[in-house]
Amino acid sequence: MNQLYYKQREFSGKDLQLGLVILYQNWRKEEKDMGYYAYHLGLREEDIAGATLAFLPGDPERTLTLASFGKSCYQLAYHREFKTVLSCGDWGNVLIVSTGIGGPSLAIAVEELAALGCRQFIRVGTCGAIQKEIVPEDLIISEGAVRMDGTSDHYAPLSYPACAHWDMVKIICQACEQLKYRYWTGITCSSASFYPGQERYNTFSGYVPRNLRGTMEEWQRLGVLNYEMEVATLFTVARALGLKAGAVCGVLVNRQQEEEVKPEMVEKVEQKLAQVVAKVSEIILTGKS
Ligand code: URA
Repeated sequence: MNQLYYKQREFSGKDLQLGLVILYQNWRKEEKDMGYYAYHLGLREEDIAGATLAFLPGDPERTLTLASFGKSCYQLAYHREFKTVLSCGDWGNVLIVSTGIGGPSLAIAVEELAALGCRQFIRVGTCGAIQKEIVPEDLIISEGAVRMDGTSDHYAPLSYPACAHWDMVKIICQACEQLKYRYWTGITCSSASFYPGQERYNTFSGYVPRNLRGTMEEWQRLGVLNYEMEVATLFTVARALGLKAGAVCGVLVNRQQEEEVKPEMVEKVEQKLAQVVAKVSEIILTGKS
């Protein structure tokens, strides 16, 4: 039985059933021919135009700013927190994909982007510094991360380190040097929460559970540079899946001085991060450092 035969005959209940089965089978075949569909991102392989490098901000609003260095950029999809923009330039194409806040959605984005063909990932975010020499607008390039992210333990036991790929650290440092931006390299603490996990007391209840009280001081003593919420997930998931990952975050606040983030700092940091994304893309895609 084929579709033509089905169309030429008069309908009976049985024919209708058969017809529906055929239509369904054809639809499934078309779906299969079209390749993998990334369910949360709402993307297919052909959508990403061969891009293998993805920058991952948290905020969907930041994607276009970060993509604007390309000659042209296209918004490919926007599902939930995942906004995907393709930035096309002389050296090739890169993706900017927002992952929302925290590890669970970042892990989803990395899994689906890897299945679509991406192999290099760079988180581009914001953070709170915890060492006194680091000031707002400085950039922090993470070499490794404390795994308080609450997601990475689904990929590897907590005794496994969350480490950046050295190639990525080197390239982001080169980009910052070429741009003459002040930057720091070292260990980041990725927390599953913005308030208690980063020991903020100016909250609705003011309560930080006992197991988290004093942790900021401990991380400071251990030389940790900053707090944010996704780097440890990215590094662990990437290593577990055989991918390369790096991370650069702009400092919004120094937690030794204050708890609150100043909104005006966000825009300044975003402009710097956009320049870093452009420079890193140039270095990676041209192979010239
Ligand atoms: N993001 C965080 O997770 N913490 C901060 O303090 C600032 C940005």
